[in-house]
Amino acid sequence: MANKYVTVTAPVNIATLKYWGKRDRFLNLPTNSSISVTLSQDDLKTTTSVCYSKNFESDALYLNGNEESLSSPRQQSCLKLLRKCRIEKEEQDPSLDKIASLPLHIVSVNNFPTAAGLASSAAGYAAMVYSIAKLYQLDLDRSELSKIARQGSGSACRSLYGGFVAWEMGSLDNGSDSKAVQIAPRAHWPGIRAAILVVSAAKKEVPSTGGMQLTVKTSDLFDYRVKQVVPARYEEMKKAILARDFGVFAELTMKDSNSFHAVCLDSYPPIFYMNDTSKRIVKVITTINEAYGRNVAAYTFDAGPNAVIYYEEKDEDIVLGTLHEFFGSVPGWAKKSGKSFSVPRKFPIEKFDHDVFSKGVSRVILTSVGEGPTLVSESILNPDTGLPKL
Ligand code: DP6
Repeated sequence: MANKYVTVTAPVNIATLKYWGKRDRFLNLPTNSSISVTLSQDDLKTTTSVCYSKNFESDALYLNGNEESLSSPRQQSCLKLLRKCRIEKEEQDPSLDKIASLPLHIVSVNNFPTAAGLASSAAGYAAMVYSIAKLYQLDLDRSELSKIARQGSGSACRSLYGGFVAWEMGSLDNGSDSKAVQIAPRAHWPGIRAAILVVSAAKKEVPSTGGMQLTVKTSDLFDYRVKQVVPARYEEMKKAILARDFGVFAELTMKDSNSFHAVCLDSYPPIFYMNDTSKRIVKVITTINEAYGRNVAAYTFDAGPNAVIYYEEKDEDIVLGTLHEFFGSVPGWAKKSGKSFSVPRKFPIEKFDHDVFSKGVSRVILTSVGEGPTLVSESILNPDTGLPKL
């Protein structure tokens, strides 16, 4: 039996309606449904090659060139579930190769800083689950695979789809109805852009899992958020996406980021993910929106200080002109080389202390809405050795 391998790439997603809180931490079942935009793999992606061989000693994972442990309960549940599906397939069709029990080598690289608050675990688990499902030739659709990826990291379930994605929280105890679904494909609203302002590429201070457990346990506002705020906002946001209504989409996105950071602050002891740079970015974005009398851009922050700014392509000169004025000296603008940026006429630049407002951002990543996991032909693993290709 030849050593078989497949390679896939998977995207990052950034929530516009945040997942924060688990009702079951082993199955990774959330306390609310959430919504995200999948970002283009041209700019942010995880590439993963997987291979099985009877010659490998055991399962192994190589992340960005280094061997990493594969023993965490989350990694193990994903592997177990995928193997279980393959075993069922082999039992149904005895002519199939018996590969479910053979050791797997997983080689994965990110083209962005791991654990920088840029949802690397989401792209990582989506790539791992999708690649093994392809290697095993499982007949599961993306929603079914999202339930497996969810057990690796909650937000990973949304990276199984491109475009605009919802994670339906579900109500069953076994989690079989807690899955990602596509609200609309990329082509529905291809003009959505995202500018990521990297405020810190360091690892998160309070990892999301621990942070959300503290919030569920101690925040008084949390109950109000999940029962009163999110259910209505979820329906409104889906509607705004389907109607391509950026004004409403932006307002809901900013409000939900605020609400999520409010329950973090209301946790005891409090959790602070946004820092002073994040707060100055909020000021810049709200000032653009005020100056134009409409929501031209929306900010959102995850479990860290990095900002993601959503806007529409038609407003690129306004949004990037403003951001370039403050952060034009950091890397990341090359993509727009040849373009001359200018502060938009209506932006009251005189009200901002340039020295203060231009501090704290280390790079920008300019990207857009993108596609879900994709099979690719070029492997990053040597199938004879199962090791990363140099
Ligand atoms: C703030 O998916 O990283 O980014 O399920 O514990 O792995 P675990 O958490 P994770 O949490 C993401 C939280 C968030 C909001 C979101 O992506 O919806």
